[in-house]
Formats: sequence, structure tokens, C-alpha cells
Amino acid sequence: MSDALAPGGEPPGPWHDPAAERFGDDYFQDPLAHFSALRETRPVAPVLLPGAGGRAWMVTSYDEARAALADPRLSKDSRKLRPDWEPHPVFGALNLHLLNLDPPDHTRLRRLVSKAFTPRRVAGLRPRVEQLTAALLDTADSRAQSRDDGVIDLLDEFAFRLPVTVICELLGVPARDQDDFRDWSAVVVADRVDDPGEWRLAATAMLGYFSRLLAAKRVEPGDDLLSALIAARDSGDALSEMELTAMLFLLLVAGFETTVNLIASGTLALLSFPGEMARLRADPSLLPGAVEELLRFANPLNHATERFTMEDLPVGGAVIPAGEWVLAVTSSANRDPGRFPDPDRLDVGRDASGHLAFGHGIHYCLGAPLARLEGEVAIGSLLARFPSLSLAVPVSQLRWRPSSLIHGLESLPVRLS
Ligand code: HEM
Repeated sequence: MSDALAPGGEPPGPWHDPAAERFGDDYFQDPLAHFSALRETRPVAPVLLPGAGGRAWMVTSYDEARAALADPRLSKDSRKLRPDWEPHPVFGALNLHLLNLDPPDHTRLRRLVSKAFTPRRVAGLRPRVEQLTAALLDTADSRAQSRDDGVIDLLDEFAFRLPVTVICELLGVPARDQDDFRDWSAVVVADRVDDPGEWRLAATAMLGYFSRLLAAKRVEPGDDLLSALIAARDSGDALSEMELTAMLFLLLVAGFETTVNLIASGTLALLSFPGEMARLRADPSLLPGAVEELLRFANPLNHATERFTMEDLPVGGAVIPAGEWVLAVTSSANRDPGRFPDPDRLDVGRDASGHLAFGHGIHYCLGAPLARLEGEVAIGSLLARFPSLSLAVPVSQLRWRPSSLIHGLESLPVRLS
């Protein structure tokens, strides 16, 4: 994921608007309420985010957010914002990846990773994803049965374990280390890191781990994506060591920080609309469309990663001055009544195509086919196997992670039967 505004890495930009909306910590618990208010009154507005989240213009309406995502006048490469800015070496080694670069660098890196991350490789993963899902649900079930109250945290036991195991296997990263990099990643992608030293510590630990892993793969390559990327570099293709670590960071973190929320928040959405859950259980052929609807409705990211204006940019009646950070608020766009009728109603039969959960334009999610596969298998299996699945606490007690980018639950206590 991008983190150009992370503590210790923030390139200062001009900031003049005293009329900026100021979001408080309550933003994290109910971002959509904040976005809806903006979309109705000021769909292109400067916002001050809580914590170290920084300052940005938010674009909350569908047409404008979609256009912003594909607008070449919005850059992803923060080095262009201030050419004399020297990124902290740890920051660069994790963050100068294709999601934070413009063409031609982006084109080169995307081509390279697309060669290794082929649709065939992803399609071939279905049996393994099904096998892992069944095993994880077995474990979750026996753990629930061993507890007096029968309650388990579906997020920790299942929604996180599946995507993290899949991306580890695909990359060739030892699955036993998953708890470590989950902890580092939580700090690195959070906006609410009160101590910048904490960010640097987690980022440095993660980078050290990646360097050791790359060294080991060079000695003993495997049939995995990481070895393929190393080989591409070593055979004269243009992946520098820094690009390699940043690519690994992006693929690993993007591979689990998002899909965990498709599975957990998607399940919560279905539990909140029991009629829709029953409809999906009764007709599993609805699953592929239902996953699109869950992506629209429960968008795993609040907004796309940040871009900045390279010139004064007219957007939906406002002009965003040059040098300002811009966030296309995809979750809000997906709830824009001008694009999706009755947008706050979950409807597993609706045509949700055109949603922006995977972004739009040249940075459109590279992992979308994998995320869709995991979402379908995970949610389909969960519903089929546990007909009495229920929430173990009132919805009002659920807490969301303190991240502006990631929209994810802290935990999801459920009873399986
Ligand atoms: C439900 C799960 C997922 C969601 C909602 C999601 C969402 C997104 C979004 C919105 C973007 C574009 C961000 C922007 O333009 O600012 C993106 C890019 C990307 N995603 Fe995903 N993603 C998911 C799963 C995955 C998975 C499983 C991977 C696999 C490793 C992955 C890898 C990437 C990569 C590499 C990019 C950068 C593409 C580029 O810059 O050209 N994503 N994702």
C-alpha cells in the first residue's frame, strides 16, 4: 500500500485553506457518515485527517472520483512534489513501488510483475484456496466447540489467515512468519501512529526481514513469485534491489490487508441483511455477483491511495491548486445514489459492476482476480457450512481500525452454530 504521508516520510506540501474540514477520531469508526455529509454538500473538499493522516482534498462523488483515478495530471510519485526531498532509506525501500510511481517507471514495473502474476497462476490456485478454506474452517469450528460460549473471532481465525497464507505461498514467504509481518504492517499502514519512532521501528524490522528473505531466495530459488521476480532482475531486466523490496512489501501487504476485510466486513454486511444472506445461501450461483456487491457495499479501503496535483486542476466545480494531495474516496463513490440506486441497501442480486473498490485506470488492482477468488470461496464456504452463523456482540460494539486508508474491523466475534 502507499504510505507517502507516513510519519517520518511526509514531504511537506503547500496548504492554504483555512476552510478545510477537520475530521476527528470518530472518523475511523464511521467514515461513511463523514463521506456522505461531504458528498452532499461539498463533493470536492480539503480535509484534515486525524492523527498523522495528513491533509488532502477528498473527492467523494462517483464521476469525479473515477475521473481522478485515471487523470494523468494527478501524480503518484511524491519525489516530483519536491525534487530536493531525500526519502528516508527505509521509507524508499518500502514505498517506492509501482503503486507510488508514474509512467514510465510504473509501466516497466507493472509489466515485470504481471509476467509473474499471471491469470493462469491465479486460476490454478482455486483448489488450494478451497483446501485451505476447509482446513481453516475445521480449526475455527473445533476451537469454537472447545469454548464455553462457543464464540470465536472470525477475523483472526479465518478472514486474515486465508489471504495471508495464500499470498505467502504465492510469493514463497514462510507462512510461519505471518504474525510478525501482520504486526509490522498494522503499524506501517496505520495513520494513527502517535510515536514516529514506532513507525520506523516496524518498517526497519520489516525491511530487515525482506532483505534476509531475498538473500535466502537467491541461494535457494523456488517455484514462486519472489524467485521469478529475482530472476527477472538478475537476468538483466530492470528491477533494482530497492524496487525488489518495495515490490515485495506491496504484494505482501496488499495481498492480505485488503482481502481480510472483504471476507470479514462482507460477512458482517450479510449478517446485517439476513434476508440477503438467506437468498445467497439458497442460490449459490449468485456468489460471483454477490462478491462484487460486497466489494461495493463494504469497500475494504475507504479511499484510493494518495495522488497529488501537478497543476491547478478543475474537479467537479472546484479547482484544486497545484501541489495538493488528493484522495479519490472510492467507498463514498460506491454509495453515490447518482450511480447506484438505493446505495445503502445490500442487494446480492444487483449489478454492482463499475464499483471502484479495485480502483480505476493504470493502477487498477493487480490482485483483483485473486481477491475475487478468495472472496467467493471464503464466503461461499462459510455460508454453506454454518447455517446458524451469527454475530456474538451487538453491531455497536464492533470497533474499526484507526486507519484512514484501510476500512477494517479490529475483530469479528461470531458463533458458528
Ligand atoms: C479485496 C481485496 C483488494 C482490494 C479492495 C484492493 C484494492 C486496490 C486498489 C483500490 C488499488 C488501486 C489504488 C490506487 O489507485 O490508489 C489496488 C492496487 C493494487 N493492488 Fe489491490 N486490492 C485487493 C487485493 C489485492 C491482492 C490480493 C493483491 C495481490 C498481491 C493486490 C495487489 C495490488 C497491487 C500490486 C496494486 C498496485 C497496482 C498498480 O499500481 O499498478 N491487491 N488494489
